[in-house]
Parts: sequence; structure tokens; C-alpha cells
Amino acid sequence: MDTYNIFLEYYDKIVRWINSPLEDEVEFLSKLIQKYMQKEIQSISILETACGTWVVAKEFEKLWYSVIWLDINPKMLEIAKNNLDEKNLILWDMTNFSLQKSFDIILCNYNSICHLLTWQEWQNFFTMSYNHLNKWWILIFDINTLYEFESITRDFAQFYTFWDDTVCLEMFKKTWGNNTDSPTIFYEWLIKIFKKAPDWRYDLITENVKENSFPINIIKKELKNKWFKILETIDFHYWEVNEESERVYFVCEKK
Ligand SMILES: C[S@@+](CC[C@H](N)C(=O)[O-])C[C@H]1O[C@@H](n2cnc3c(N)ncnc32)[C@H](O)[C@@H]1O
Repeated sequence: MDTYNIFLEYYDKIVRWINSPLEDEVEFLSKLIQKYMQKEIQSISILETACGTWVVAKEFEKLWYSVIWLDINPKMLEIAKNNLDEKNLILWDMTNFSLQKSFDIILCNYNSICHLLTWQEWQNFFTMSYNHLNKWWILIFDINTLYEFESITRDFAQFYTFWDDTVCLEMFKKTWGNNTDSPTIFYEWLIKIFKKAPDWRYDLITENVKENSFPINIIKKELKNKWFKILETIDFHYWEVNEESERVYFVCEKK
């Protein structure tokens, strides 16, 4: 499923300039990878799934020689192509891909896994990662927790101003399916962009982006079922994972 087609113009500005500065994230990920690397840095092979526009990837390319990037959105990859070697960019769904190659590290960063709406898709991503990892090497991904989605849904609308344009982000809790006793829940961003038109009026452009999450204990159980050993879970902001963690990293070893 494509995401962020309209929001794309503002994505890096909001995500990397404001919400989660690029330097912090690259430093965090580099330290994490170096903690678990078992050989020379230059010889480590990395697959970054759901790579987005390249910003994190570009920093990785400076540090590691062998990186392949994969994303489902051609528009994201179009931006990435301006900055990265095209042959290393792959348009593919991370729940179903086959690269005929295995890697030392598979990375799925900035809660990209939350764009997979069903538990089956999360399971498929874990299977794909397992299949494409070298033995004893690691999968790193992070989630927005259910606690975080519930807080965003309840608490606020976010406003960002860029020159003459204003972007408003709100999240709503939604359900789908016919089973009213046990409806399937997901969370949906409503992105409203007030874009200045040449005649001094504003055009309102909207886009919806769906996300989902699952309880940490269920994710851990599934990873263990899939023969991963969980090396650690980390709260991105406070290190210790607790019930009010908003963003949690999982570091898992292929057994
Ligand atoms: C929140 S962005 C994160 C981008 C990047 N990882 C970063 O750190 O900036 C989520 C990305 O996941 C991608 N995505 C969503 N579903 C996907 C899927 N099934 N397979 C591959 N990529 C997917 C989107 O196209 C988008 O680029």
C-alpha cells in the first residue's frame, strides 16, 4: 500500500528536522549496530526495508559499503534515487520479497512496521527477515506502541508551518470488518495541508495514512516462535521499556 504520496513534500522536514532529528537517530542506530557487529565494519551487509526518502540511508552509506534499500512507494524511491546508487534501491513489499541474497543486518526504522495493518503482515515481515538474514546476525526494528497511538489519538492535533503552507496532523482510532463483537482496530492519520495558491487563497489537500501496532509481549512471543532470540528491547527516549514507552526498538538475533 502506498503511503505519504501528498505528505511526502513535508515528510523529511517534519520527521527529521523536528520530531526525530537525523543526527540522533543515526547515532543511536550506528551505536546499536556496532555493539553487535562481529566483523570489520566495511564488510557488513545491510538491508534497510521501508527506507523512505534516503535521509537515514544516506548517512549509512557513508559508514557501510554494502547496503540495499527497499520500499513499497515509488515516489519515496524517486527522491532517494537523486542521492543513492539506483541499483541498490528496490521497489518491493517488505511482507513478501525474495532477493536471493542474505544479509548481516536487516533494519526497519522509524516505526515503518506500523504501516502493516494486520498481524498476518507483521508475521510475514518477520518470516521475510528471517529468510534474508545470515545466521547469528540481527534484525532491528522499532514500533510506535499502542500506548503512543492511544495518546496521539486522545491528546492533540499537531500543526507545522512551512513558509506560507500549514500542515495539520490528527490521528483517529478506526475499525474495519463486519465482526461487531470483535472489530479490527487501526489508527489513521488525517493529514491536512493548507497550501497557498497564487491568488492568495489556500487550497486544502488531505491524505490519510493508516498505522497499527500490537502489544509488546505478543510481538516478543511471535519473534521467539520464529526462531529469533531477542537480544534487547530499548525505549528510544528513556532506555528502559515500560508501559508508557512510546517508541520501542527490538534487536533480535537469528538463531
Ligand atoms: C515512516 S516512513 C519511514 C521511512 C524511513 N525508514 C525513515 O526512517 O525515515 C515509512 C515507510 O514505510 C514504507 N512502507 C510502508 N509499507 C511498506 C511495505 N509493505 N513494504 C515496504 N515499505 C513499506 C513507506 O513507503 C514509507 O517510506
